[in-house]
Amino acid sequence: MDTNVQKRRENKKSLRVKVISLGNAEVGKSCIIKRYCEKRFVPKYLATIGIDYGVTKVQVRDREIKVNIFDMAGHPFFYEVRNEFYKDSQGVILVYDVGLRESFDALDSWLTEMKQEMGSQANMENIIFIVCANKVDLTKRRVVDESEGRLWAESRGFHYFETSAQSGEGINEMFQSFFSSITDMCENGGKRPTPEVSVGFTKEQADTIRRIRNSKDSWDMLGVKPGATREEVNKAYRKLAVLLHPDKCVAPGSEDAFKAVVNARTSLLKNIN
Ligand code: GTP
Ligand code: MG
Repeated sequence: MDTNVQKRRENKKSLRVKVISLGNAEVGKSCIIKRYCEKRFVPKYLATIGIDYGVTKVQVRDREIKVNIFDMAGHPFFYEVRNEFYKDSQGVILVYDVGLRESFDALDSWLTEMKQEMGSQANMENIIFIVCANKVDLTKRRVVDESEGRLWAESRGFHYFETSAQSGEGINEMFQSFFSSITDMCENGGKRPTPEVSVGFTKEQADTIRRIRNSKDSWDMLGVKPGATREEVNKAYRKLAVLLHPDKCVAPGSEDAFKAVVNARTSLLKNIN
């Protein structure tokens, strides 16, 4: 075969991509990457200083993908070093520790930092995001459950995986899905393909479940003022019941949210004449 034709064919099949890892310090970003690339786990914490860079080759269908991995330091101290590296990423691994709520709450601020640093280039639509709920092996200290993490991720169109760099759970599946989605995106002209099946729930449902989880008391949960009348409580309850009824809502955590709303209404009505 003509060597030029052969070369062109090979070029079409090989792909170079850039991925970055984000999340608070000590959540396990480096260990997740190490588990995948080196098949080992290091229990001792060695903070990443600024950035760690590595290259790995993976096979997705008939394509060879050369993946450049930029493993970011999570510590705020390294902001000046890592801010250079956000640009031109095709994929982002967002990591939190299921035993540390603040690391989950911080995911929004990681997205904000990324958007800020990418400036006018910030087209977050055409980047594949994968969320790792990490350290699931430490079941006793878990404080962020699966439905909460999944809801946060899926309501933004991100993939969600439960992982443990220690046991290896979920790591290969997560990377396979990550690289295959990035390849799909590259084959789609660099645009994130619209999912064939929608997530099956609305943003209003996702936001309501989140609000219910974070409510401070039963009044707050139903979204009425303390001292509201029986009618006001019932009206608010009916609205939420229609939105979250398990027959109608498949969002992660909807069943618990629905039960919490039923209980809140019962306890409020007991004390209203
Ligand atoms: P920075 O580089 O400072 O941003 O931290 P990092 O997110 O890269 O964390 P790293 O991977 O260095 O892991 C932090 C600590 O958590 C280390 O002591 C790891 O051994 C531990 N660790 C990481 N993943 C897991 C896990 O899945 N399970 C358990 N039990 N420990 C983990
Ligand atoms: Mg690290």
